[in-house]
Amino acid sequence: MRLRSRSAPALAGRQRPPSDKSISHRALMLGALAHGKTEIEALLEGADVLATAAAARQFGARVERRSEGGWHIEGAGGFQQPSDAIDCGNSGTSARLLIGAASAYPITARFDGDQSLRKRPMNRIVAPLTQMGARFDAPQAMLPLTVHGGGLRGITYRSPVSSAQVKSAVLLAGLGAEGQTVVVEPEPSRDHTERMLGVFGAQIDSIDIDGAPRPRVRAGKLNGAKIYVPADPSSAAFPAAAALITPNSEVRLADVLANPLRLGLFQTFLEMGAQLAFEERQNPPGEPIAELVVKTSALVGVSPPAKRAPSMIDEFPILAVTAAFAHGDTTIVGAAELRVKESDRIALLVEGLRACGVDADELGDGLIVHGHGPKSVRGGANIATLGDHRIAMSFLVLGLASKEPVTVEDGEMIATSFPDFAGFMNSLGARIEMA
Ligand code: S3P
Repeated sequence: MRLRSRSAPALAGRQRPPSDKSISHRALMLGALAHGKTEIEALLEGADVLATAAAARQFGARVERRSEGGWHIEGAGGFQQPSDAIDCGNSGTSARLLIGAASAYPITARFDGDQSLRKRPMNRIVAPLTQMGARFDAPQAMLPLTVHGGGLRGITYRSPVSSAQVKSAVLLAGLGAEGQTVVVEPEPSRDHTERMLGVFGAQIDSIDIDGAPRPRVRAGKLNGAKIYVPADPSSAAFPAAAALITPNSEVRLADVLANPLRLGLFQTFLEMGAQLAFEERQNPPGEPIAELVVKTSALVGVSPPAKRAPSMIDEFPILAVTAAFAHGDTTIVGAAELRVKESDRIALLVEGLRACGVDADELGDGLIVHGHGPKSVRGGANIATLGDHRIAMSFLVLGLASKEPVTVEDGEMIATSFPDFAGFMNSLGARIEMA
């Protein structure tokens, strides 16, 4: 499916972006691991999360869709032996978290994924889970792989990368391990697993190591819970950026997850001079929520600190595109993880920006975008996204404010995180069509 975006006169209106992907995965997984009934409201029904729902069934949970976004789970109190391989599709979160959770049980499970997922590193979870006592048939430390779980002991794992997927895999394995399991990471990554484990009644707290609190879990029973999934700030990032760079715009994005460990992009936008605010903050149990209000803004280039990277790890593509419309250089560093996402996002961003007439330089762990202001971006390119949803959405946003339309070659993968992206954007006044 080819999609094309062309310049829009203005964006306006109020919409709720799709629900948070990370929280949706975790709600299904913890519901499947728990005893009794879990009710989920506003689950994201994108392809990645549906892969987790299918896996939850294969591991023995009863998983029912009762309405749009309304899912009921009858957990089996742990994972049972699956009869077939678990297909994680394009989803790194499904693969890494489910492998961690499966390690805790005396079962053998084979995991596989699509071409992109088969290239992504799994050693980052295989190594700590092996230390805990899980056994793997994983010759390449990539998918497909088989895990033989059970008999785990808790560890204190010092992760070399700040990764919520690694942290979550180890903590979920810790639910079935003897003793305590602690994860220490260089900078804190998103903490949805920790928060939700608390809601499900797990024995989770934190201990201070090296001057910062680190999550600690002990084996124990989870009880079914009620989970409401707020809108995804990583999806809200696209209409928010579009409003910043499209003239005469004001957009309100409702019900957005306002967890500080997810808001690095919005902090960076503010430093660029964005007219942006989180209003009507609410603090229900679990996760904070707010309404994000964004207006057209005169932006300047910035250099976000490397330590902010984990709190905006999925947002670098849209930051790089937005930076092309700012005055001055935006220098992104500390983002080497972008090379092992759904694609090598650093390489694809630099290639795509240059094809759109934007001056950009590749760095080992990031990139520099030389911005020349709102009216400077030519566009007019055909972008190959290698099936990466966030690269596709970022360049479609670029096309909303560039001189010439932008075409994205493979738009169907957008549905992994943002079902009906074009419809959502067009309801705010964008012009995105099938090409
Ligand atoms: C996610 C963690 C991040 C993020 C991904 C979702 C999660 O990955 O990029 O989109 O739900 O835990 P890493 O843990 O690899 O940084």
